[in-house]
Amino acid sequence: MADLVETPELKTEEKWTKKHLLSVEELSKEEIVLVMKTAASFKEVSTRTVKKVPALRGKTIANLFFESSTRTRTSFELAAKRLSADIVNFSSTGSSTSKGESLKDTARNIEAMNVDIIVMRHASSGSAEYLSRSVKAGVVNAGDGIHEHPTQGLLDIYTMMEQRKGAEGFHAKALEGLKVCFIGDILHSRVARSNIWGLTKLGAKVIVCGPPTLIPREIEKLGVKVCYDLDEVVSEVDVLYLLRIQLERQQGMFFPSIREYAGEYGLNGERLRRAKKDVLVMHPGPVNRGVELSSEVADGPNSVILDQVTNGVAVRMAVLYLVAGVKA
Ligand code: CP
Repeated sequence: MADLVETPELKTEEKWTKKHLLSVEELSKEEIVLVMKTAASFKEVSTRTVKKVPALRGKTIANLFFESSTRTRTSFELAAKRLSADIVNFSSTGSSTSKGESLKDTARNIEAMNVDIIVMRHASSGSAEYLSRSVKAGVVNAGDGIHEHPTQGLLDIYTMMEQRKGAEGFHAKALEGLKVCFIGDILHSRVARSNIWGLTKLGAKVIVCGPPTLIPREIEKLGVKVCYDLDEVVSEVDVLYLLRIQLERQQGMFFPSIREYAGEYGLNGERLRRAKKDVLVMHPGPVNRGVELSSEVADGPNSVILDQVTNGVAVRMAVLYLVAGVKA
């Protein structure tokens, strides 16, 4: 019976002090490792017959999604439910935002129903930080414009640590020297930005590769190397992280055609055969098959795309648990 109800013992001495999770930029190396260790403690909960612990019983979480989402929204909902919190889902379609209500008013009305944590995805960069100044509840950024997607960055780091070192891999030195290449639309990618902040703090070597029009100017200042030719680096890296081509955020075409993009930057079987045998193939989803990567690669033995999704629940359980524990 104990197995059905117990919250795993967290093997950490560090203290979490952040009431909000707005970015990976604001996290210290120690805080990133604390999220990793906490997520590792929670991961087995999702393999139990009864996938629930009482850690957040009595807490209420609101999922506010002003942009489409499959993985993040479902993952936060499952994470909250597995921690025994109550969760309410809100999307802009069919709500009063379509009648002109401001973000601040919407959030404050939801908060007035005694919500403890607001998880928000929004198309505007900086909206999560703005919300955190407008409400008393804790705020977790589920993706704000092209700024950051912190829980995606954290679940990607978790996946790299787990794949590299297994259960013993969740420590500050686990990713030192790991070579990670982000490929594609770096300019519009909040996923790349969160990963870059986290990976560089942990001592990984990060390369960004894509068409010059999709690489932000001065990105080297974040401690990454820039490369425009995937074939130059494909054989030397440990992780090939394909980014989604975000046609919805592009005002004009940043490359001549999708076919040419796929030819230059897509990962197909032929290109993968020139990579390290144990290279990890990652993608945040949703995947455009035949553009960022072929089905052969997406479904092949090097792909950890579904592991990323599985780990997302554990990482979001950890984030909700840590944020909920901070007093106002
Ligand atoms: N990775 C990610 O953010 O996916 P969704 O847009 O489906 O949430």
